[in-house]
Amino acid sequence: MIGVVLGTRPEIIKMSPVIRECERRGIDYFILHTGQHYTYEMDRLFFEELELPDPTYSLDVGSGTHAEQTAKIMTGVEDILLKEAPDIVLVQGDTNTVMATALTASKLHVRIGHIEAGLRSLNRRMPEEINRVLTDHVSDHLFAPTENARENLLREGISEWKICVTGNTIVDAVYQNLGIAKKKSNILGELDLKPREYFLVTVHRPENVDNRTRLKEILKGLERVQKEFSLPVVFPVHPRTEKRIKELGIGVNGLHLTKPFGFLEFLQLESQAKLVLTDSGGVQEETCVLGVPCATMRYDTERPETLDVGSNILVGADSQKILETVRSTESWKSDWKNPYGDGIAGKMIVMVCAATRSQ
Ligand code: UD1
Ligand code: UDP
Repeated sequence: MIGVVLGTRPEIIKMSPVIRECERRGIDYFILHTGQHYTYEMDRLFFEELELPDPTYSLDVGSGTHAEQTAKIMTGVEDILLKEAPDIVLVQGDTNTVMATALTASKLHVRIGHIEAGLRSLNRRMPEEINRVLTDHVSDHLFAPTENARENLLREGISEWKICVTGNTIVDAVYQNLGIAKKKSNILGELDLKPREYFLVTVHRPENVDNRTRLKEILKGLERVQKEFSLPVVFPVHPRTEKRIKELGIGVNGLHLTKPFGFLEFLQLESQAKLVLTDSGGVQEETCVLGVPCATMRYDTERPETLDVGSNILVGADSQKILETVRSTESWKSDWKNPYGDGIAGKMIVMVCAATRSQ
């Protein structure tokens, strides 16, 4: 029995290939949704679009401070792990859902598989960095997406035999859904956009949006890009960002703000964009896989592979740097090699779990 635990938008997307593989192989598994994300566009929409089975358990923990959210997830997950006694629990990424589940499972002596293990920004002020490090150190199976992630784990003294380099399940998710997105989504038509003649933006990291000066500087940079290029800047707004823009009373001019898109619409928009500006982890990877240039509005990244292959560049939260980088990407060639694998990560992960169970 495999326990698949998820709670946020990126976890639903990146766990979808694992869930599909469990279904395909007829493996006994359950889905536990912590409810860290709960708004329709951040949660339910993805189950519908990706045709995923409903969660077996839903905790509805909702939003709160880090301690509140972590505590609620831990008590909820504990009850279910005691009831189900799975052979292994799978978590993906670096959210509070991941860390709280891993801590709980480790104390119950339930085996843990961490998908996307070994990523490091080396910035301990990011909540995700704390979550990654703690989760990796209590996990039994570390599914590292790249050789670089594997080396990070070895450097921290994690045993070699626990680590398996699988690629990132986002490649599976992109390959499995890009064709469907092209057939099912007419989002470019709906928004009156032409391929390669618009920019796509996402911003949600607390260090960017919870800080008035930094958020204003990022929005200024995006507005300058829109003015200089006279092209639409499509900006699906994450709920955290929407809340902050309202609370801080910041005016936004010239940008095309929308609700968050479903994965199929977002994939379609990403694959046809001139350039994507983001602070998202998953979007840095997806643009790299899709061959679309990416400017990351951060000062560090746990996805250095994207910088190494030349698909991504760090522009911080500086409006001038944002504008200059967008100018420079006019001459980029999108001929880099995707460093995140062949799209079989989900299969490899389920295979390892099944083999462990039969031992
Ligand atoms: C969380 C993860 C982050 C991940 C992101 C993916 C942690 C510490 N953070 O950040 O790593 O990149 O998800 O999107 O786990 N809200 C809603 N509806 C929702 C969810 C959130 O309105 O469905 C609003 C609430 O006001 C909430 C705020 O967004 O307080 C932040 O949500 P939270 O889950 O705490 O963190 P994220 O910023 O979403
Ligand atoms: N995404 C989406 N709709 C949007 C914005 C993003 O479906 O409007 C998807 C995107 O394709 C990627 C994932 O959300 O797979 C990234 O999630 P997010 O940026 O919230 O989290 P992070 O990856 O930074 O943890």
